[in-house]
Amino acid sequence: MATRDLASMPKRDVYRILSSLVIPRPIAWITSVDDAGRVNLAPFSAFMGIFGPPMLAVSLGRRQDGSLKDTHRNLRERGEAVVHLADRPLLEALHASAEEVAPEISEVARLGLATLPSLRVAPPRLAEVPVALECRLNQELELGPATTLILLDVLVAHAADRIYDESLDCADASRWQPLARLASVAGPNYGVLGETLRLETPRLP
Ligand SMILES: Cc1cc2nc3c(=O)[nH]c(=O)nc-3n(C[C@H](O)[C@H](O)[C@H](O)COP(=O)(O)O)c2cc1C
Repeated sequence: MATRDLASMPKRDVYRILSSLVIPRPIAWITSVDDAGRVNLAPFSAFMGIFGPPMLAVSLGRRQDGSLKDTHRNLRERGEAVVHLADRPLLEALHASAEEVAPEISEVARLGLATLPSLRVAPPRLAEVPVALECRLNQELELGPATTLILLDVLVAHAADRIYDESLDCADASRWQPLARLASVAGPNYGVLGETLRLETPRLP
């Protein structure tokens, strides 16, 4: 058993260890727009859904030089974003969109991704991604000098017909291959949903 006292370790080591243990993580692939209307795209895996109220939480770090990431700055300035959940065919594009580029360069245009207008927010949604959640900024929680937890209200949910079960009015996990982030140093750094099964909710006799 490897046991590490995280409280006494340097930040970098803590990140490496903890992000290799808390897996698999869903990946929020986020479009946002700046004041000039330019579309930004980036992936974030410190991410979770909060389903009642309908919210999402995403933890955004700072760039090496301490400045805000484009997604963070756009959310602060415009208060809106679309959070996508991608599947296997989009893995390479998702990964490439993490590259740090100048704010005037749009990752969406660079990667040749098609977009569609959103219903309730300014950032467009990605046409080929099976799930898109239109969101508005609820609040920011500062978690130390270099990390901010962003809470988003989900206003509109879009799911591709191919993954949606109309009779049950929700998506069916067996119809797509959602991506997951794994440890970034040792072993594979991405996963694709593999074996799936269904258990009924246990009930006390
Ligand atoms: C799969 C994956 C997950 C990531 N998760 C996070 C995260 O949770 N928080 C974060 O701050 N950066 C995360 N990053 C790094 C950002 O994507 C990266 O800093 C990106 O350049 C930010 O883009 P932006 O400046 O356009 O917002 C992740 C990168 C990858 C490839």
